[in-house]
Amino acid sequence: MQFHKKREKILIIDFGSQVTKLIGRNIRELGVYSEIVSLKDFKKIKEFHLIKGIIFSGGPSSVTSKNYQTISKKIFEKNIPILGICYGLQLIAKLFGGKIRPSKGTREFGRAYLTKKNNSLLTKNFFKRKTTVWMSHEDAVVRLPKSFKMIASTKGSNLTIIENTQKKIYGVQFHPEVTHTENGKQIFKNFIFLICKIKKNWNVNSQKLRLINEIKQVVKNDKVICALSGGVDSSVVALLINKAIKKKLICIMVDTGLMRKNEFKSSYNIFKKKYKLNVKLLDASKLFIKKLKGITNPEKKRKVIGNLFIKVFEKEAKKYNNIKYLAQGTLYPDIIESRSSTGSKTSKIKSHHNVGGLPKFMKFKLLEPLKEFFKDEVRVLGKSLDLVNKINYKHPFPGPGLGIRIVGEITLEKIKILQEADHIYIEELIKNNLYHNIWQAYAALLPIKTVGVMGDSRTYEYICLLRAVTSQDGMTADYYNFPKNFLDRISNKIVNNVKGVNRVVYDITSKPPSTIELE
Ligand code: XMP
Repeated sequence: MQFHKKREKILIIDFGSQVTKLIGRNIRELGVYSEIVSLKDFKKIKEFHLIKGIIFSGGPSSVTSKNYQTISKKIFEKNIPILGICYGLQLIAKLFGGKIRPSKGTREFGRAYLTKKNNSLLTKNFFKRKTTVWMSHEDAVVRLPKSFKMIASTKGSNLTIIENTQKKIYGVQFHPEVTHTENGKQIFKNFIFLICKIKKNWNVNSQKLRLINEIKQVVKNDKVICALSGGVDSSVVALLINKAIKKKLICIMVDTGLMRKNEFKSSYNIFKKKYKLNVKLLDASKLFIKKLKGITNPEKKRKVIGNLFIKVFEKEAKKYNNIKYLAQGTLYPDIIESRSSTGSKTSKIKSHHNVGGLPKFMKFKLLEPLKEFFKDEVRVLGKSLDLVNKINYKHPFPGPGLGIRIVGEITLEKIKILQEADHIYIEELIKNNLYHNIWQAYAALLPIKTVGVMGDSRTYEYICLLRAVTSQDGMTADYYNFPKNFLDRISNKIVNNVKGVNRVVYDITSKPPSTIELE
């Protein structure tokens, strides 16, 4: 369990919602330290004096079922303000004797409009003439629990915001943490500053020196090795550790040949020349292509790429003596996700492999300096470490790289075609100031050839698929709505310049039901 034993905080108890992380991020963005714990870990906490407010997240459980996730009522006796969100509100209502209507197939999902009924500290400066909130619930509170007051309602649920000012307990049925809820941050602002009265205590920039010092103290005179991918996480890890121990950090860049056009070499040059890192570039592309020959199954591809990566890295690491630590870009969400909060198993959609991932059998100690940070916070650190924008604000890129963007068998020819098409697409996004409006964009190659005509000749070539999504954390995503003329231009440019492609399609599915990557 990660529970900082010195810092005052807002504690979030995770009841298993997909968006719990966003609550933590919202609070930190307001300058207050927050931590997310599972119900199981919550029971181990003794340092209640550090907890200035508690938030119950949403979750898939139903208080109307026999076995629902619950918490001891003792929590309400600690005189710590509590805010329940969605399931959190229903749980509070249940524990205080309110009535909850089971779903019976009725549900309120998506946008809803709030009607204000009473004033509350929680909703100060929150309501607008028409306040849009984001709902995702089936059960609803239909009778107020004792000594609670109704603050707002919607058409679908009467008791959308409730409060017990004496006990400082509040509940909202909607999700203030998602951007679809207009002005949702104001709810958190009011809760933490007006109700919990916690002072600002979190500033990522001021953490930089602490991290560098900690690394120095931990590593002392030992050596650290790190798999550097050129993505923001591993790059920030490398720069931080380099600040602490200089050349005693050995960075290995394994080129799988499945990277974007020119990107790997260019990152290598930046690390070597601008930051003077002790970095080695290993070209293993031939080996990867060889091992991937004939493989079309997505999961098999992922496994082959992941395992081979570890093998190549391990072989290289063995050449160095006295390496004690392996540095990894583990982030706070990885820590939250790696423990089971609900006890329920979620189905495995894809096996994720992170470059710089987990060679468990290696006899290194782990050094994970980013494990208390969210991705956005890592970018703030990156900025303060003078990491070039090109890397610091780069879209996420999956460990298996283009390998999962070439549907079907991977060949050198297909990699080259895809690299060219992808390059044109990404360059145009940058040129047209669209890159930073989008969470992730890429081109993919479909394993089908179709007929086209160029000049007077028939062509028979591949289809290039373009994807661009907006998202907050990759768990859900919407496709990006490009102006039509932009897509026209890209399509023309790709077909005219990339030999091997004669058709371009744009993916207009969101996640769910699709995923962001194709495989
Ligand atoms: P999906 O396709 O699951 O992707 O909707 C969600 C996010 O995860 C990224 N992704 C990966 N990242 N190793 C990674 O480091 C992987 O194996 C991997 N697979 C998917 C994907 O690019 C998107 O940002």
